[in-house]
Amino acid sequence: MTAGKKKTDALTIGELAERSGLSVTAIRFYESKDLISSNRSPGGQRRFPRSSLRRLSFVKISQNLGFSLGDIREAMATLPDSRTPSKRDWEILSQHFVADIDRRIAGLEQLRENLTSCIGCGCLSLARCRLYNPQDEASGFGQGPRFLMGDRPEKT
Ligand code: FES
Repeated sequence: MTAGKKKTDALTIGELAERSGLSVTAIRFYESKDLISSNRSPGGQRRFPRSSLRRLSFVKISQNLGFSLGDIREAMATLPDSRTPSKRDWEILSQHFVADIDRRIAGLEQLRENLTSCIGCGCLSLARCRLYNPQDEASGFGQGPRFLMGDRPEKT
């Protein structure tokens, strides 16, 4: 930070890169994905609000948790652009992700259960193996091409 620069000043892309630990290229990428935004200085250079630092932290943490940029953008759309996310904002965004993490844990537990039933089997049967063919709706009707044989998918 240069001498005399106020704490509320906007950041250049270089300053944002230095403070966030991200590359300039990564920051441009996140801006192109509408995860952060900038204004232009009179000279045409990008100027980022200081809140971009916390937004970038949230993006990186969310990516580390396995969320897509689309999920992250959707969650961040609830944040006001012009201020640093508050503690309450963080709680709300975190709750949004906790529900998704719970769903993933349930899916992984089901996967582990399926794997356990396959250990020592090795058949890799399209008809029987829930790991090889996990979405096979027709498997409950029995072996063979069940829908061609006249069975119909259950309505959900
Ligand atoms: S490997 Fe045989 S049921 Fe999965």
